Amino acid sequence: MRTAIYPGSFDPVTLGHWDIIQRAERLVDQLVVAVLHNPSKTSAFTVEERVAMLRELVGERPKVTVTSFHGLLVDFAKSQGAQFIVRGVRAFSDFEYEFQMALMNRKLAPELETVFLMPKEKYSAVSSRLVREIGSMGGNLSDLVPATLRERIAERLSGG
Ligand code: PNS
Repeated sequence: MRTAIYPGSFDPVTLGHWDIIQRAERLVDQLVVAVLHNPSKTSAFTVEERVAMLRELVGERPKVTVTSFHGLLVDFAKSQGAQFIVRGVRAFSDFEYEFQMALMNRKLAPELETVFLMPKEKYSAVSSRLVREIGSMGGNLSDLVPATLRERIAERLSGG
């Protein structure tokens, strides 16, 4: 059984994340999308809201589950019996941070392999940070977040 964890903040989920989920799903038997509980980071959406939005988006996909985790990613991955960590890389600018994280995770748990996937080019500039910024200024979030979640995300980010 090939199991991968796709970890992240998902604050909020973007079309880039959704693209990666669908690519990763094709590679494994089980994909666990995992939202980090990070008390030291302020967020626009609670972990529960982020999990709920991801679950709605994923819908009835038998291979994909959505959950949250505390603490070290490698410990969570081991608890799930995972062999792989999936991360999306959009541009060269993502590389340094991802490289450091992958090597550190390898040091902590050599049996876990980090796999990098590239989303479609049209999502290469899409990030949760920019979604939050654009949403907070009332900008158009089409093409950035899933259509079914757009209104909810826009409302929250614009202060509603
Ligand atoms: O979406 P993000 O914020 O880029 O995701 C970062 C995440 C959640 C993958 C990373 O912060 C993480 O794995 N945190 C858990 C704590 C941990 O394991 N830290 C050591 C990483 S080398």
